[in-house]
Amino acid sequence: MTFAHLGGIELAYDERGEGLPVVLLHAFPLNRTMWSEQVEALSHEYRFITPDLRGFGESSVMPSATMEEMAQDIASLLDDLGIERAVIGGLSMGGYVTLAFYRQFPQRVRALILADTRAQADSEEARLNRERMAERALREGAAAIAEEMIPKLIAPQTIAERPEISERLRSMVVRNDPQGIAAAQRGMAARRDQSDLLAQIRVPTLIIVGREDQLTPPELSAAMHREIAGSTLVVLDGAGHLSNVERPEEFNRALDQFLSSL
Ligand code: MLT
Repeated sequence: MTFAHLGGIELAYDERGEGLPVVLLHAFPLNRTMWSEQVEALSHEYRFITPDLRGFGESSVMPSATMEEMAQDIASLLDDLGIERAVIGGLSMGGYVTLAFYRQFPQRVRALILADTRAQADSEEARLNRERMAERALREGAAAIAEEMIPKLIAPQTIAERPEISERLRSMVVRNDPQGIAAAQRGMAARRDQSDLLAQIRVPTLIIVGREDQLTPPELSAAMHREIAGSTLVVLDGAGHLSNVERPEEFNRALDQFLSSL
């Protein structure tokens, strides 16, 4: 792990491999290590950069964490690494940041990966729920958030048959600072609707989703696929929201096929 000192914020990241730079942005409320199977399997072909977004993992906790601020952090990290253009991808919250990045810096994007995510902003109900969870994180700590979120992040069968996955996720969540969790929830609640951006996307785009994703169901991915010209849609059986963690082999196959086509 390395720290990038980006003027007022320290971003922790891992960098591995050589070749086409591929930035992967993690989901809420996890950290960069959720990508370990992808990096492990494919870093002999590509240069992976996996940061902890602000407020998570070992990166600085900031009072504000909008999707735009997180996207700016990634642009600053790329500047720091001397990378002009990269493949940018993210899962769920990482996908929200990916879309915010494309809106701000389209010329820096070689291709997009949108995993288990959506373009729409929150409903009023979802915003209220995020504020409730932000307050709960501050009051009860990260362990309460782990208990509430993990059953939604993975498919029921994964919970029943692979307890080691729940345990791995829990250990990621509980290491996060409640202030970082709360700031990200508020940042997600305030995020803009990116639906109008989809038809403007001019780079190769891989959309990937678990068939049993309850948080961002496959219909949302199918809708993005219809809007993004020339995009590829892959639906993974036997996976919930964290499709890359639950079905790493199938996810890696789709990712490798996409990246090798660029
Ligand atoms: C995530 O997996 O990043 C979150 O579930 C996203 C969200 O809460 O919208």
